[in-house]
Amino acid sequence: MPEKLDRRAFLTASAGSLAAAGTASAQDAETEAEVPEGAFTAGSDDGPAFAGPPAVSGPSPESMVVLQPVSRFATGYLEYSVDGGAFRRAEAAPAGLRPFEEHVLKFELPPLPPGKEIAYRTVAHSVGWTRVRQFYHGQVAAGAPQTSETRTFRTLDPGAAATRFAVWNDTHENAETLAALHARTAELSPDFLLWNGDQTNDLHFEGDMAAQLVAPAGLSLAGWPLAYVRGNHDVRGPAAKHLPRFTGTPGDRFHYAFRSGPVAALVMDTGEDKPDDSVYFGGMAAFQPMQRRQAEWLRQVAREPWFRSAPFKVMFCHIPLYSRRDIFPQHRRWEHHTFCREQWEAALLDAGVKLIVSGHTHAQEWRPAGDGQPIAQLIGGAPQPRWATFIKGVATNDKLEVQMSRLDGEVLATAEIAAG
Ligand SMILES: [Fe+2]
Ligand SMILES: [Fe+2]
Repeated sequence: MPEKLDRRAFLTASAGSLAAAGTASAQDAETEAEVPEGAFTAGSDDGPAFAGPPAVSGPSPESMVVLQPVSRFATGYLEYSVDGGAFRRAEAAPAGLRPFEEHVLKFELPPLPPGKEIAYRTVAHSVGWTRVRQFYHGQVAAGAPQTSETRTFRTLDPGAAATRFAVWNDTHENAETLAALHARTAELSPDFLLWNGDQTNDLHFEGDMAAQLVAPAGLSLAGWPLAYVRGNHDVRGPAAKHLPRFTGTPGDRFHYAFRSGPVAALVMDTGEDKPDDSVYFGGMAAFQPMQRRQAEWLRQVAREPWFRSAPFKVMFCHIPLYSRRDIFPQHRRWEHHTFCREQWEAALLDAGVKLIVSGHTHAQEWRPAGDGQPIAQLIGGAPQPRWATFIKGVATNDKLEVQMSRLDGEVLATAEIAAG
């Protein structure tokens, strides 16, 4: 809900500023006393604009997005510089209108050069609108511009001889786990961070979503290009359809592909963990057509030279395609996604994918290829600090090493994938 504002002070300021701009008459200013109760208002014209650190999402240099949490209705623009150059402005205004958002300002950066340091900051100010019955127009009041801290990240470099990445999964808003994962990630200083689904328990209130997704537990995702992966919990709740406002994936799709050094990464969307007609979804689920379409999309991506030339092809998706449910078929939980496996497996094999990295089961597991399972599957752990895992990947042109460890550093699994 919009923050309550001092309506009298707001209207006085509004009428004054509009009169100064020559767009309102003195009569408008005089009507303040006649403003009916219940005039529609949105926003406020004062107070801090920023509500936490931004996240930088994308993650390829052609599709970077900055998500800046705000504490009240605000507008603004982004300033960025490439490799120490002059700051330029990026507007989130494709049709000439800057954003007017209550929770997160979302700025798309233009295509950036690979492997460069990008400095960025947001200039924003609060905005209040009111609509009064007697006027022929709404009234706006703007707060003073505020400039965020300048932060940096480095764009991915498809041509680099090596890369390293970090993977989180199933954090489910657990602040202690998030803090520990964040510390491990800072230590690694990866080229990209991949957050492999179930960031949330559900998406109920839009007002909570910046703290769930952009600055989780107040932590900063401002320094590493984020590859966001949607989990089954992140499609649940009345605010789930607003997820793209808080994520910044390429084209606002939840399946995309990118290259970092020797690794071609596929991000795919496994949707919900039950059939679309499950009573659990109340008729809201239509995931199967989307899951089918991804197989076609995957076949197209796999033909592109940047993908084909990568020594390693890795697929990331929240729900695994293989899990120990194969071993314990009586297990009642939906542990792997049979439908996605049926739709995608052949295309993944044709594309040369040798490794799938997932979460969802809350039971960490390393499953090498073999015994009827054609692709190796790594599954991260649970939300609770005791069972959570940190996955890191380090690739050169010859080999990809992945390691899964507990938050205290105890190594649970290591695997080496050969190039080819
Ligand atoms: Fe989960
Ligand atoms: Fe899940």
